[in-house]
Amino acid sequence: MTPDSVFDHMWQALQPVGRVASTGGYRRFAWTDADLSAREWFAGEAAARGLDLTVDRNGNQWAWWGDPDRDGPGVVAGSHLDSVPDGGAFDGPLGVVSAFAAIDLLRSRDVTPHRPLAVVNMTDEEGARFGIACAGSRLLTGALDADRARALRDDGGTTLAEAMTAAGRDPGQLGRDDETLRRVGTFVELHVEQGRGLDDLGAAVGVASRIWPHGRWRLDLQGEANHAGTTRLVDRRDPMPDLARAVLAARSEAEAHGALATIGRVRVEPGGTNAVPSLVQAWLDARAPDESTVRAVVAGVARAAGTTAHEESWTGVVEFGAGLRDRLAALLGGAPVLATGAGHDAGILASAGVEAAMLFVRNPTGVSHSPAEHASRDDCLAGVEALATVLEELTR
Ligand code: GLV
Ligand code: MN
Ligand code: MN
Repeated sequence: MTPDSVFDHMWQALQPVGRVASTGGYRRFAWTDADLSAREWFAGEAAARGLDLTVDRNGNQWAWWGDPDRDGPGVVAGSHLDSVPDGGAFDGPLGVVSAFAAIDLLRSRDVTPHRPLAVVNMTDEEGARFGIACAGSRLLTGALDADRARALRDDGGTTLAEAMTAAGRDPGQLGRDDETLRRVGTFVELHVEQGRGLDDLGAAVGVASRIWPHGRWRLDLQGEANHAGTTRLVDRRDPMPDLARAVLAARSEAEAHGALATIGRVRVEPGGTNAVPSLVQAWLDARAPDESTVRAVVAGVARAAGTTAHEESWTGVVEFGAGLRDRLAALLGGAPVLATGAGHDAGILASAGVEAAMLFVRNPTGVSHSPAEHASRDDCLAGVEALATVLEELTR
């Protein structure tokens, strides 16, 4: 098989994993059966190439070509295989599949890396189940406290510790993992672009410059359960109007500040059509070019809802190192350099002092976190070619 057809084969093998027939999107949440199938797929691809598979304390999977403990820190490419609810096929998997495919390309050209080279599948990048995005890389670098992580609960009340145990992992091992970190000299994450920047520029591949600061906040809006048909309006404590004010404020504050703010998840107790809610919880995602703008937006939304915003996660601005960034852009024939509002494990590693860079592959509609997310096969193969070029250069 040619490297291109191996790429197609990998893509097809992953396609049914966690796919929701009714939407065509994916539900690959951390430590669920779908995630375990994806991890099994990863182990199989590593074995098929004779790569050494290791799983670190936090469940991240690494497939090494060469020995980073013997021959010094290596170069790592990859991304994640989990998804948001009804996510697209590309966000995450494209980076992992492309990393394996880039190794195939190097081998087909008889390129022997002079540094160890690995493919990684970072665990729970989206935080769709337990609420904290990039949990695998945050735990790895110590940015997420292990006790806090173990106690995180999904919507069904299962803790991360319980979910890991059920999946055969030891949650007691969670935490900063210096042994693993020492092996990572440089991390290059290829990712489908989540906007139309490359399409506007007419380029198939680009290089990341920075990630906007962003975070997630929870609003707890208290009410008092009561009968919908008998409770006079003046006697009600209904948190729903507060939610409405929060939603409208998210839009107006974002507009006023040149930011982005989203309330995409809401929980209502008790959730009866004929009952005034006793509690509404809403999650606010806010992002902007600088931290003070994000904070101003969040404060405005909380004020409008008459509550405080509990910060569940925060990622400061990430500026990818200009030296590596510009070197890769030049290596790729003057590839465009662009910023993003999306969070990535590469950003978490960069913030922890690991040399890191990102490649983006054109997304013609810009749609992401949706079943409609797309990149053409030609552009995906251009991404593999670009990644192979980068990996050859970095392991020279
Ligand atoms: C991850 O995709 C994020 O930006 O939320
Ligand atoms: Mn995503
Ligand atoms: Mn992603």
